[in-house]
Amino acid sequence: MGDIRFLLNGQPMVLENPDPTLTVLDWLREAKHLTGTKEGCNEGDCGACSVSLAAMEDGRLVHRAVNSCILFLPHLHGKSLTTVEGISPNGKLHPVQQAMVEHHGSQCGFCTPGIVMSLYAAHREGRQDHNDVLAGNLCRCTGYVPIQRAAEAAAKQPQPEFFDEAAALQNLTLTNDAIDGAYLPTDLDDFANWYVKNPNATLIAGATEVGLEVTKALKDLTNLAFLNRLDALKTIANDDNGIRIGAGVTLSQLRSAMVGKHTDFVEMLRRFGSVQVRNTGTIGGNIANGSPIADSPPALIAMGASITLRRGDKQREILLEDFYLSYGVQDRQPGEFVESLFIPNQPDTVGIYKISKRFDQDISAVCGGFSITIENDKITNSIIAFGGMAATSKRAKTVEAALNGQPWSEATIKAAMQKFADDFTPLSDVRGTADYRLKIVQNLLWRYWLARNGTSANVLAEVAK
Ligand SMILES: Cc1cc2nc3c(=O)[nH]c(=O)nc-3n(C[C@H](O)[C@H](O)[C@H](O)COP(=O)(O)OP(=O)(O)OC[C@H]3O[C@@H](n4cnc5c(N)ncnc54)[C@H](O)[C@@H]3O)c2cc1C
Ligand code: FES
Ligand code: FES
Repeated sequence: MGDIRFLLNGQPMVLENPDPTLTVLDWLREAKHLTGTKEGCNEGDCGACSVSLAAMEDGRLVHRAVNSCILFLPHLHGKSLTTVEGISPNGKLHPVQQAMVEHHGSQCGFCTPGIVMSLYAAHREGRQDHNDVLAGNLCRCTGYVPIQRAAEAAAKQPQPEFFDEAAALQNLTLTNDAIDGAYLPTDLDDFANWYVKNPNATLIAGATEVGLEVTKALKDLTNLAFLNRLDALKTIANDDNGIRIGAGVTLSQLRSAMVGKHTDFVEMLRRFGSVQVRNTGTIGGNIANGSPIADSPPALIAMGASITLRRGDKQREILLEDFYLSYGVQDRQPGEFVESLFIPNQPDTVGIYKISKRFDQDISAVCGGFSITIENDKITNSIIAFGGMAATSKRAKTVEAALNGQPWSEATIKAAMQKFADDFTPLSDVRGTADYRLKIVQNLLWRYWLARNGTSANVLAEVAK
């Protein structure tokens, strides 16, 4: 019925009706015998399977490192895939490979191709934030210092000559919007009508959640719709009242759009998964998935965000906090999808804190969002929301009530901190006990108080007292 077309290391590929849930990693290794790309965890954590995926974004070719183990073949349609075998086309090592050799960055060897591909994508984009770039490539043998030295050295080297990737991409003729078992729409209205008729279909955006259903839960997913070709879901628009973000905007793109608007949100997104996860995972997927430990919902609820849901040609806008009804249940009708998110303009005083055992790429024990409005030293409004404290992302309404109308003072904050136990009965699990979680949320309110009063540099020392 159809095919998918993309570039593999510069060569045009046409795959007739591939299995739509075959991962790019399995295809590379088993069909193409390109075994430089390794399988470590098969769930997006370790980065051993990293490859570069390039596509046009706002008229510019952008290279992004992605985890091929949880990416499906249809995600490649119309894009340029580069593996470690494709970065030294003239037989000469790429600058990042040469630097890895010179700085002894290749250690166990198994992780090296993935590390090289993360550095390759970063080098193509001129990135200097080597720590963040490498956060999704886990090394357990010796450490990152030689790899970081290699990254710094490579960043000083110019781009080698490559083929004209943008022109080669434009020469790909994409005629299909479906293959057997999967719909790959490009028109939002067509998709919206199709979904009304196929309400049991599985929607796939970045697949950083859905991918694991295949690779870990070994589910056979049928009747799929891939949302990643719907440009109408990828728009970011500012107006006088705020910013509207399409559900298909990736977490990397969202982070860029938030720079200068929400300092803490940008910082939290730096610790959301890894570069690879953020390059494919979407904000719509994070919201729609409805996990009680998802990081963006508590932050966005504190910012007063709303979402637009769409079914056919009907749209409705609701506050994000009203979307989450109970564990695993959202206010979403059959055939209805998340179309966009709206964040109203506000001062950059929203506090967002992600608490996890490991700094980078870890699931939160608790993630909190704090928005407190102060007028004439009095609290006129407060929104405080958490993930990791209940079966859904949830507001601390008793604490908010204890704050509203009170003076902005240490006594008010200390009194309100005692009220969290009335709002939450958290679980004990591997990420933290119930007592630990309650203590955290109390201390986070104290941290917010210190940060609002300009003592953020001393926050951790204060909290530790
Ligand atoms: C290694 C790793 C680290 C991670 N780290 C974090 C983290 O730090 N914080 C965190 O919160 N999450 C984390 N995640 C989870 C995941 O990356 C996010 O939830 C991400 O935003 C999901 O987006 P996606 O586009 O990949 O969703 P998908 O996997 O494509 O879809 C997720 C769900 O949402 C549905 N869906 C997708 N788009 C829509 C839409 N527009 N309308 C309706 N339904 C839709 C799908 O049908 C599916 O049920 C991590 C995942 C991995 C693998
Ligand atoms: S194999 Fe570990 S991230 Fe893909
Ligand atoms: S480079 Fe593989 S574990 Fe360190």
